[in-house]
Amino acid sequence: MREQATKRGSEEQTNKAAAEALRPEAIRKDFPALGQTVHGRPLVYLDNAATTQRPLAVIEAIRGFYLRDNANVHRGSYDLSHRATEAYEAARARTARFLNAAEPAEIIFTRNATEAINLAAFSWSERFLGPGDAILLTEMEHHSNLVPWQMAARRAGARLLFVPVTGPEGLLDMDRVQALLRPPVKLFAFTHVSNALGTINPAAELCRLARQRGIVTLVDAAQSAGHMPLDVRELGCDFLALSGHKLCGPTGIGALYAKRELLEAMPPWQTGGEMIDQVTLDQSSWAPPPHKFEAGTPNIAGAVGLGAAVDYLERIGRERVFRHELELTAYALDRLKEVKGLRLFGPKTAPPHAGAISFCFETIHAHDVVTFVDRLGVALRGGHHCAQPLMRKLGVPATARASFYLYNTRQEADALVEALQETRRFFGA
Ligand code: ALA
Repeated sequence: MREQATKRGSEEQTNKAAAEALRPEAIRKDFPALGQTVHGRPLVYLDNAATTQRPLAVIEAIRGFYLRDNANVHRGSYDLSHRATEAYEAARARTARFLNAAEPAEIIFTRNATEAINLAAFSWSERFLGPGDAILLTEMEHHSNLVPWQMAARRAGARLLFVPVTGPEGLLDMDRVQALLRPPVKLFAFTHVSNALGTINPAAELCRLARQRGIVTLVDAAQSAGHMPLDVRELGCDFLALSGHKLCGPTGIGALYAKRELLEAMPPWQTGGEMIDQVTLDQSSWAPPPHKFEAGTPNIAGAVGLGAAVDYLERIGRERVFRHELELTAYALDRLKEVKGLRLFGPKTAPPHAGAISFCFETIHAHDVVTFVDRLGVALRGGHHCAQPLMRKLGVPATARASFYLYNTRQEADALVEALQETRRFFGA
């Protein structure tokens, strides 16, 4: 009885914490890099879609690994090696839990989301794609979810089809999705959140439509993992790719989630040590997944850092992170309308606009905007955002982009607006 009451009490506390609005001012204390000044101004870091900052918990986890547990994994039979292996495999289990994968073996560690997509594109296509088949993508993909499929299609004699992006709001044309999800399409790969438009795509609905027609799905979650709750079983995807450095983790580590039966059927993509079962001079057999896809010594400390990052985000609560980002984006979208001559891309409201906001002035190049606001302490990205076909479609060579994360504040959105006003005055736009 008492146990039940205690359990109920702690559940209520958890629910209360989940319901509480996130306080970015408190969270910023976890991120030492945010406390600095640049060009004599407080840093306003708004390039989170390119990479996020790391909390102390992640930095300390990596430091602790190298100070105490460093050894190679899966091969030594001494205590230190066991500890290193345990730390590495625990990170896999935590990443699996973070995504609600059915088992840790469904998580392959890669260098980043790009490598995760390359793995899927190479290996899945090798086994399942043939002449005359098609891969469906969208016009809003960044190069990481386009070029690997171009290569795979070329190798297999298959072709690429694209879901158009409609209107000034940058949404997927759902009628065309319905029309295109049929033979010869074998796989549909799409971004969950556009890095250049900020659009949140209806990923679960897209996966459902594809599944109904027996089409395999890959969700590029580079911009969504760590920004919102993400559950691969709820999404119903076959593959999902993420980068550690875009969710508070270190660079050089990412993950591919894939359903076990696909991993069993797919051939390895890189070969060498760690991924084999038996090797003779003439031939080899493979270890079971996930090791079949992790040739060579992996980024052990990176995986440990990723494990610490997902723990950190789970402690804060991704629902709260998401709510905070949407509120901040809605506020920024509203305030940016005050800047004369500024053209905003992507959805007009948040949601479906996530925390990456692209914009440009008619008469000032995005690179000039970014360079100018940097002198005021504001870090933005300017350019084609690794999405050249989308820029062509939008009819601009480049945009400037502000992208928010859990530690950004309304004051920083105000600083962005002020910096853009100053830019406009300086260039006489
Ligand atoms: N795709 C990443 C970005 O949008 C690199 O900045």
